[in-house]
Amino acid sequence: MVRCINSIVAFGCSGAGFQPVLGEGFMGLFRTVGFMAEPSPAARITYGGYLRLEELLALQDGPDGYAPLPSNDELHFIIVHQTFELWFKLILRELKEARTLMNNEHIEESSIPRVVHHLERVSEIFRLLADQWKVMETLSPQDFLAFRDRLGTSSGFESWQMRELEVLMGLESQGRVGGMDPLQHMKRLAEEGKVSAQALHDFETTTSEPSLNDVLTTWLSRTPIHGSSPGSDGDLDAVRNYVDQHLEAMRQHGEHVIAHMIAIGHGDEATVRPRIEAGVSGAEQFLLRDGEAIRHRAGLLFIESYRDLPLLSWPRRLIDSFVELEQSMLLFRTHHARMVERMIGRRMGTGGSSGVDYLDATTKYRIFVDLWAVRTLLVKRDALPEVSQADFYGFRSNAPPHDS
Ligand code: HEM
Repeated sequence: MVRCINSIVAFGCSGAGFQPVLGEGFMGLFRTVGFMAEPSPAARITYGGYLRLEELLALQDGPDGYAPLPSNDELHFIIVHQTFELWFKLILRELKEARTLMNNEHIEESSIPRVVHHLERVSEIFRLLADQWKVMETLSPQDFLAFRDRLGTSSGFESWQMRELEVLMGLESQGRVGGMDPLQHMKRLAEEGKVSAQALHDFETTTSEPSLNDVLTTWLSRTPIHGSSPGSDGDLDAVRNYVDQHLEAMRQHGEHVIAHMIAIGHGDEATVRPRIEAGVSGAEQFLLRDGEAIRHRAGLLFIESYRDLPLLSWPRRLIDSFVELEQSMLLFRTHHARMVERMIGRRMGTGGSSGVDYLDATTKYRIFVDLWAVRTLLVKRDALPEVSQADFYGFRSNAPPHDS
């Protein structure tokens, strides 16, 4: 096997075309390289060429004709933004891969770990980005003010990659500050020449395709509940029974909670009971519509409740990685808002928004709403009804207890 030695054959070395003459030591090695009339394509690749470094490193001087050239502080500002945008590019790619894998009527079991892998990578990137605001904070407010006017009305608000990834994940207009419609916003930016026709086209494509939240919901609706799958005989009743059983478990659990709260002096019957009962009626609204169980929510509740069943171990990891993804994105938003507060206080943003107040409002966004909501409905393990058809999920229901 030929091992790649960066300093000699350059980044991207492969075995082909690189045959040192045995026993001739380093001189033989150089002679061999010297004799190669036509180096293989891999050997022609250099570190700078592969990464297109010269082009990349020539992109920090501001737009054409920008004078005077950026100061140290402004260069720092540009580089931090550019690195964010590069990471956004990768995030989009990873999330699109995940969406494609899940956008199928039947998802191979082996695909779920791959989706988890994509989502986990994105969560790590968001964590990295959340920390990257620290680098931005080395800029003092006054140093920022020194070049802030040069930014004109440009703002992260115009980051089309950020908008695209929100849409790809499934953030709805009605959930946004002021009900902002991102497609209309993008069209306006394109008319004003602030984004290219290609960026608008890519954005329109993403808007017209199912979001990650859409494919997740469809997948959840196929969850086998007590061994019953959609379309199988009696599935509607099986799912409705499951929901009723769970609501009953919540009621019983609620009675214990009421007794406990009163016993420890955290209120009396009149104050505690309505709160617990409101929780159960909230659960009914979450799980039922027109007397029928909402299957994807029942499926989600089932996975979260019986997460120890072997067959459900990857589904629950998948759900965890969606929650992780959204949590890491929210922390990224929160850290941005805190950095901005430290930098510009309560000033208006260059994009015309209220600034920090606007950014704080975006930290309330929730995309995978059901995944967060279901947590309020969970009851402790020993209060749960037994799983029927446990065989189906990888455990035998009537297996004798362990001896130990
Ligand atoms: C001194 C540094 C920064 C300040 C003072 C700042 C300030 C702001 C403000 C005030 C907004 C709200 C929109 C507006 O009215 O402009 C905003 C939005 C935004 N900024 Fe920054 N920002 C800074 C650095 C960054 C960096 C390095 C990035 C990385 C790409 C970034 C990305 C964004 C994005 C994506 C939004 C849109 C958020 C949304 O609408 O959900 N910002 N920024």
